[in-house]
Amino acid sequence: MSDPDEFFGRVDHFLEGLLPPDDEPLVAALRDSASAGLPSIQVSPLQGRLLHLFARSIGARRILEIGTLGGYSTIWLGRALPADGQLVTLEINPRHAEVARANLARAGLTDVVEIRLGPALGSLDRMVSDGRTFDLVFIDADKPNGPAYYDRALALAHPGTLILIDNAVRRGEVADPRSTDPNVLSTREALERMGRDPRVDATIIQTVGAKHHDGFALARVRGPDDARNVKAL
Ligand code: SAH
Ligand code: DHB
Ligand code: MG
Repeated sequence: MSDPDEFFGRVDHFLEGLLPPDDEPLVAALRDSASAGLPSIQVSPLQGRLLHLFARSIGARRILEIGTLGGYSTIWLGRALPADGQLVTLEINPRHAEVARANLARAGLTDVVEIRLGPALGSLDRMVSDGRTFDLVFIDADKPNGPAYYDRALALAHPGTLILIDNAVRRGEVADPRSTDPNVLSTREALERMGRDPRVDATIIQTVGAKHHDGFALARVRGPDDARNVKAL
């Protein structure tokens, strides 16, 4: 195996070929995001499908995304919603939001998606004050705020809510005790918070593929009906 990233990328490409290809709105979203100069850091096509499947599997009607970029993951999540569902996606960069708006319109999702422009923490605190709740929260914005986003996600959750944290592994650096990278340290702090949080059952999964070695965390918010013994895990 020469370059592991290159190898895993080729395997991802093969696996993508086993599934229906991204349709026009998804392809166009990636194309227009790239030509607008947005960084190519969106979820991979296969990861987008996973987000979609998670949302569909729990019958999500209200979805919160932290970090919109050009709206590629937003399209996958928005398409999992019923016609009267709602997705709120938070983005600080007006240029990203503008590109996302056009991409979401082309995907026919304008009626179900609301882009809230501004620092995510402010938008989140307003939604907490308003007593909003969501069935699924996808955390994928600036990493230093990761622990704060995790806390807000819990405040906006109900029993059964799924919380996903992207970029949980960072080429394995999250496990390196010598790392001084603030992105790594805050990501680790978010995972530690989740890992010792009695309110959730959670796991952390490493991934390889079109993107470098990384991973995601998945937490499910517990309710009074959840069997207490599972927590021993
Ligand atoms: N979820 C997207 C990728 C998001 S990339 C996808 O997979 O398609 C991360 C995004 O978070 C970027 O667009 C960046 O501008 C945004 N961001 C960074 N800091 C932020 C903040 N404080 N509040 C809201 N959004 C932020
Ligand atoms: C970066 C951010 C992401 O959310 C991601 O999935 C990949 C890379 C980044 O900031 O480099
Ligand atoms: Mg990410």
